[in-house]
Amino acid sequence: MADVIRELLARDEAGGQVEVEGWLRTARHSKQVTFLEVHDGSAFAGIQAVANPEVPGFEEVVRGLSTGCAVRVQGELVDSPGKGQRFEIHAGQVERVGGVDDDYPLQKKRHGFEFLRTIAHLRPRTNTLGAVLRVRNAAAAAVHEFFQERGFVYLQAPIVTLADAEGAGEMFRVTTLPAGDPPREEGGAVDFGRDFFGSEAHLTVSGQLEAEIGALALSRVYTFGPTFRAENSNTSRHLAEFWMIEPEVAFCELPGLMDLAEEFLKAVFARVLERAPDDMEFFEARIAPGILETLEHVVKSPFERMTYDDAVRILEQAKQSFEFPVRWGVDLQSEHERYLTEQAVGRPVIVTDYPKDIKAFYMYVNDDGRTVRAMDVLVPKVGEIIGGSQREHRHDVLLQRMRDLEIPSEDYWWYLDLRRFGTAPHGGFGLGFERIVQFMTGMANIRDVIPFPRVPGYAEF
Ligand code: 4AD
Ligand code: MG
Repeated sequence: MADVIRELLARDEAGGQVEVEGWLRTARHSKQVTFLEVHDGSAFAGIQAVANPEVPGFEEVVRGLSTGCAVRVQGELVDSPGKGQRFEIHAGQVERVGGVDDDYPLQKKRHGFEFLRTIAHLRPRTNTLGAVLRVRNAAAAAVHEFFQERGFVYLQAPIVTLADAEGAGEMFRVTTLPAGDPPREEGGAVDFGRDFFGSEAHLTVSGQLEAEIGALALSRVYTFGPTFRAENSNTSRHLAEFWMIEPEVAFCELPGLMDLAEEFLKAVFARVLERAPDDMEFFEARIAPGILETLEHVVKSPFERMTYDDAVRILEQAKQSFEFPVRWGVDLQSEHERYLTEQAVGRPVIVTDYPKDIKAFYMYVNDDGRTVRAMDVLVPKVGEIIGGSQREHRHDVLLQRMRDLEIPSEDYWWYLDLRRFGTAPHGGFGLGFERIVQFMTGMANIRDVIPFPRVPGYAEF
């Protein structure tokens, strides 16, 4: 196998024969020599290969190379006289592995992100998407390291499920019944008993309920997998398919969860800054000036903690007006979340104890009977990045809450069973992985921090 450009660039000194394989960002043909900028995606930077007429096939092969070509270059690693790069390759052999047709859409100029989405099969070759994908990778590794170092067991929650974990009805149906002519019950309703799973099945909106099963056996677990929401939100923060990380901890109450969430975010940010410095420098220079300072500030400073009551009071006294007016009982909108974290405190904020009527059925009901032990972590620019809660572990309270919300308890018999067989206080939270990547990179649109975005009306590639 060829050398990895990332490793070549990290060498202490030049010297020796090397071989690289990759795609040309540019090919500059001057009179006597051709400069090839080869990228293999292993690092933000590529490496320059310099070919002169002694290279076999110089006229026939090298002179015909252009942006986008796949190449293999062998030669000596030498100190580069040019500025901006330490090493370059003095080419001995250049092979054209794959040519490009004339209509290659990625030319050496800046393309709009909207346009790049229409060529998601090629956009990973751009600076921005390449950097996003490497930051995503570094963040994913950091997520696993964080939990593994603390004794959490990685639990794979199912993707196809019969339950609606959030009770919000935003699910995609999974079926093999014929769309035009499904079998029907006597009253005319579709007979899902004859469907593949013998019941109406959906793509999961959250692995939480299964993570609770895991926590009540293994004490500390986390999931990290795709989740799906059929909400018709055409915003810069919503995807129909996104990745969620959901830790769940037994014998743990809300304060412990807040500590875990804060420690977790800081650890992931710190590791990405450490592992992907070149990519992060790019985001600082080209996408979101100030992002490095913001991240370092977040890593160092304690998160603000406030109750929903306090948050509402702050918002009511805000000098600016909001599109959605605030009063006790309403759910916080993105504009409110951003005001709290950006204007009111200038740091991440954890808001707790939301009104029970705006939160899911599984949250622990406080003694006041009107709030639940929920927590949302809000960060500048993005707003909500984490949502979680202590869970209702008291069987009778949970059952009553499900009845009040008209959730059919027989469908959740196993979930209720957990409250009859060795129940214990427990809780957890969910982080949208793309929201974290969005926050770290400063990318304006969530569709540009996932390789293949799925949104209303669009699932190409
Ligand atoms: O707040 P949510 O809906 O919480 C849950 O699903 C809980 N079951 C989590 C838990 O307690 N285990 O979603 C959690 C997080 C949000 O804070 C947000 O970061 C992200 O998931 N998220 C989305 N990200 C992208 N696109 C969407 N449509 C998202 N919906 C939620
Ligand atoms: Mg939420």
